[in-house]
Amino acid sequence: MNSDKKVAIVTGAGAGIGRAIALKLASEGYAVAIVDVEEERAHRVTQEIRECNAQAEAIACDVGKKTEAFRMVQETVRLLGEVELLVNNAGIVRLGPLADFPEDLWRELFRVNVDGVFFCCQAVLPSMVDRNRGNIVNIASWNGKLGAPNFGAYSATKAAVISLTQSLAREVASVGIRVNAVCPGIIGDTPMREQVQQEGKAYGLPPAEQRAKTIPMGRLGRPEEIANAVVFLASDKASYMTGQAINVTGGLWLH
Ligand SMILES: NC(=O)c1ccc[n+]([C@@H]2O[C@H](COP(=O)([O-])OP(=O)(O)OC[C@H]3O[C@@H](n4cnc5c(N)ncnc54)[C@H](O)[C@@H]3O)[C@@H](O)[C@H]2O)c1
Repeated sequence: MNSDKKVAIVTGAGAGIGRAIALKLASEGYAVAIVDVEEERAHRVTQEIRECNAQAEAIACDVGKKTEAFRMVQETVRLLGEVELLVNNAGIVRLGPLADFPEDLWRELFRVNVDGVFFCCQAVLPSMVDRNRGNIVNIASWNGKLGAPNFGAYSATKAAVISLTQSLAREVASVGIRVNAVCPGIIGDTPMREQVQQEGKAYGLPPAEQRAKTIPMGRLGRPEEIANAVVFLASDKASYMTGQAINVTGGLWLH
């Protein structure tokens, strides 16, 4: 094993934004653990990366289950080495008004989007603290900064991710670990975007092309554009940045 090799974990890397982040990190020289609850997807992206002569391992894991999250990190260390970077990208969305939002869906959103981030952070932190180095990037959302009708439960989970990012960043800043979040706007070309499009019809939400007209840059974002922000935050170019929640929204949200 090459001792100066950097190891990254990307959760939800089997599709969409996570896949783009994993491909970009691999092209930057990281060995990447491709973590997804859908094992087939994880294997496909792993194969894609290996075909570019970079190192990747597929790990099936439901990040919302504590034992699975801890096993996934152990497995990464065994297969690739100590973890330099954790990207908590796995997330799910369900739409509907809060007034009658089903309790089971509410709990499922928090289980994956919040517990998942919490467990994966807890699993990587002891070794990062021991080594006085490490980097965590959480994928939140602009919806974590601005609640919206029918996105209430999802928005609450993403606000929790931003809050967790801030608190953890300040807890571990003095031991050399940085923790930041990226808040994507409306990103096209992912399975989640398709799902929002389909579910949104029931609530009269406009299709993506119409939604794009409300974005100052006039278009949806691309998964690669989120990946670029992650690579920047993980790099030494962001060496004085921690606890931030960076918008990548084409001007849609500014705060
Ligand atoms: N697409 C957007 O417009 C958008 C906007 C803002 C924020 N985000 C956030 O970006 C992240 C990625 O979004 P996306 O559009 O690529 O989503 P996606 O649904 O297209 O892909 C998410 C991946 O995560 C995996 N996953 C789901 N639950 C998991 C679990 N419990 N454990 C492990 N893996 C799991 C899925 O199998 C899938 O491969 C999410 O956190 C999402 O909330 C997306």
